Amino acid sequence: EATLNSLARAGGRRFGSAIGIRNGSFGDPRDTEVIAHECGLIVPENELKWQWTRPTPTSFDFRGADRIVAFGEAHHLAVRGHTLLWHHPGWFPDWVASYDFGASPAGEAARMIGEHVTTICRRYGTRIHGYDVVNEAVDAGTGTLRETAFSRAMGGAEPVLDLAFHSAREAAPHAQLVYNDYMSWAPDSAAHRAGVLRLLEGFKRRGVPVDALGVQSHIGSGNNPGDRPDFSTRDEAAWRAFLDEVTGMGYQLLITEFDVHDRGLPSDIASRDRIVADFARTYLDLMLSYPQLGDVLAWGMSDRYSWLQGRIAREDGLPKRGCPYDAEFRPKPLRAAIADAF
Ligand code: XIL
Repeated sequence: EATLNSLARAGGRRFGSAIGIRNGSFGDPRDTEVIAHECGLIVPENELKWQWTRPTPTSFDFRGADRIVAFGEAHHLAVRGHTLLWHHPGWFPDWVASYDFGASPAGEAARMIGEHVTTICRRYGTRIHGYDVVNEAVDAGTGTLRETAFSRAMGGAEPVLDLAFHSAREAAPHAQLVYNDYMSWAPDSAAHRAGVLRLLEGFKRRGVPVDALGVQSHIGSGNNPGDRPDFSTRDEAAWRAFLDEVTGMGYQLLITEFDVHDRGLPSDIASRDRIVADFARTYLDLMLSYPQLGDVLAWGMSDRYSWLQGRIAREDGLPKRGCPYDAEFRPKPLRAAIADAF
C-alpha cells in the first residue's frame, strides 16, 4: 500500500509528523516505525522550544533536538524546526519573565533574540530546511500582538518578531521561514484571523523575510472556542476568504500540526472514527485546493502519544481518537481520509 508521503509526493507535496522525546513517542519503536514508514519529514514536538533549549540565560541544551535530527537523517526524513520564538508568556522558560534586561533593555533583548535564533540556525545549518520562526504571536481573543518580557523591553512586539525573522534569514538563508498560528474558520476566530492578516501585511510592508503561513490545523472541537467538527457554508466562505488574502499577498501555506479533536462526538468508536475521517477529508480537500499549500504534517501519528489526550476531556472521558493511527498503531479511517485527499 502506498505511504502517505508517496501519495503526497504524487501531488508535489510532502507528508510528515511531529515526533517527541518528552511525550514518549520517540522511545516507542512502534511509533517511530510508523513515522519512518509513512513520512517524508518530521518536526520535534517540543525539543526545539526555549523551555528545552534554554535552561538558563547563558546556556543551550541541544540533546533532545540533536537526537531527533539524527533520527530524521538516519531514516531519510527532512526536518522542520519548531519553534524559534513562541511569543507567549506561558511558553518561555520562567527565567525570561524575571530576567533583568539591565540599563539598555532594548539592546539586551535584541541581543538575546538574535543570539537564540542564530545559534540554532547555525548549529543545524541545512540539516533543518525550514522553521516556524514565530509561533502564535497574535492574541486569539483580540487579534492584537501578545506582550512578553521581550516586547516590553523592545517597546513593542513588531521589533521582536521582525528581528527573529531577519536573524533567521541571515543565519539560515536556505530555510523556509514560517509564521505559525492556530486561527480557524469559526466565527469566534474572526478577530484572530484579522490579527494574523494585519501581521502578515505588516511583514510585507516592512520587508520582513516571511515565506509562508503555517496553519496549525488542530481541527474539530475543544481546541479553539467555537470550533466544531463541521463547516457551515458561512464558515467555509470565511475560511476561503482568509486563505485567499494570505496567498494573495504572496505567502505559501503549510499544514503544520494536523489532528482532529473529537470532543462532542459519539462514544461509539466506529461512528466517531467515521465523523472524524469525513471532517478531515472536507478540511483537507479545501486546503489542498490551494496550489500554494506545500508540506502537510500531523501532530503525531498515534493516539497513544497525542497531546490531545491532555487537552480538555471528552464528555464520556474516553481517550481521544484524533490521529491517523490508534493507540495500538493500527491505521484508522482518518489515515484513509488523508490518503484519499492526497
Ligand atoms: C504542544 C505539545 O504537543 C505538548 O506536548 C506541549 O505540552 C505543549 O505544546 N500549538 C503548537 C505546539 O504550536 O507547539 C503545541 O504543542 C500544540 C499547539
